[in-house]
Amino acid sequence: MTTLQDCQALDAQDALRPLRERFALPQGVIYLDGNSLGAQPRAAAARVAEVVQQEWGQGLITSWNKAGWITLPERLGDQFAPWIGAGAGEVVFTDTTSINLYKVLTAAARIAREDAPARTKLISERSNFPTDLYIAQSVCQEYGLELVLLEPEEIAGALQDDVAISMLTHVNYRTGAMHDMAAVTAAAHARGILCVWDLCHSAGAVPVDLKGADADFAVGCSYKYLNGGPGAPAFVWAHPRLINRFWQPLSGWFGHAEPFKFVPDYHPAQGIQRYLCGTQPMVSMSVLQCGLDIYTEAERFGGMAALRAKSLALTDLFIRLVEERCQGHGLGLATPREHAARGSQVCLTREEGLGVEGKDSGAYAIVQALIARGVIGDFRKGDGTGRHKDILRFGFTPLYVGFEDVWHAVEHLRQVLESGEWQQPGFNTLNAVT
Ligand SMILES: Cc1ncc(COP(=O)(O)O)c(C=O)c1O
Repeated sequence: MTTLQDCQALDAQDALRPLRERFALPQGVIYLDGNSLGAQPRAAAARVAEVVQQEWGQGLITSWNKAGWITLPERLGDQFAPWIGAGAGEVVFTDTTSINLYKVLTAAARIAREDAPARTKLISERSNFPTDLYIAQSVCQEYGLELVLLEPEEIAGALQDDVAISMLTHVNYRTGAMHDMAAVTAAAHARGILCVWDLCHSAGAVPVDLKGADADFAVGCSYKYLNGGPGAPAFVWAHPRLINRFWQPLSGWFGHAEPFKFVPDYHPAQGIQRYLCGTQPMVSMSVLQCGLDIYTEAERFGGMAALRAKSLALTDLFIRLVEERCQGHGLGLATPREHAARGSQVCLTREEGLGVEGKDSGAYAIVQALIARGVIGDFRKGDGTGRHKDILRFGFTPLYVGFEDVWHAVEHLRQVLESGEWQQPGFNTLNAVT
């Protein structure tokens, strides 16, 4: 049996522990939802005040030059690029993941139409995050492609000569299962298929080597593990061999080669700058830097290798403690036990019919009861087919989650289940955001 003292000993040995101090976590909260919205960097509030009072308030429009606003999307891209195996000049922070996905999927569809016009399919995973599938539907309509949705075990067999594009999310939002990016990309390229990767649940959470895997395009958000703040700008990467092949479809002036010449014709900038569209949100973009700076600092504490080792230790511990202490309450595990196939979250399932009066699974209410105790995770509804059940989802950001947090979180879960307090009506009323 693992004890609280064992967990405290693990925290005492944790080389990443000083980085927790970089976050303004509320007292009494165990935050296991950094895979949805990251915690607030302590530096954020002062940075917002500086941007609003000095750069905007005093500098006014001169701050586009004097405060370097104009180059911030690229500078942040360069700062973060090594964390996803990308080079300088290959990444920009801009817009949202949905919008960036539209840009890169369209670029990929244009390339495929020119290089391999006979290919008719865009493949993805049925349990991919819905916005990815919705954007793909729009691009498929525009380019006459068929969107084919697969289960993970069907992907290898589906990489055939009629496929133009593979669009996958590296770590699945619902299960925490992680694809082998290098293997999938190599198999796809062997068949001439372009690979687009969504890194929303990978960036800053697991090792990513886009160039090493020879991927074609990638997008991802910064408000999860990167702690950029709610709605913070997302990022986009294109392999240098593809960056300049086509315009991306949202050909706004910030992606123009010479935006301040104000010419009527569009001439895209060379390089990743062409993936910009319009004026970027500078308050939000500036705050994002506070999140990225913590990653830069983390390099001194062992970088991604240390973060990954701690993330796996945290998720292993959570799984072990749930299995030791929460038996007999209908919980299952949706997340792979195998390290190579696991992201930085653990998803527990609960069977339909175990909720109040057998109406649902009770998973939502259990999460609400935990939140009321200060243990914040979230709930994701099952897909109704039985393949994906209702899920209690817990994210483990190794920058600020500790081993003792894990022990207390599981103890709260045990008490919520054994007392039946989750059955209270207040925990069984669905909020707009789950
Ligand atoms: C895999 C994935 N893609 C995209 C998104 C969201 O995209 P956007 O930031 O455009 O809302 C999410 C949000 O959780 C996600 O998990």
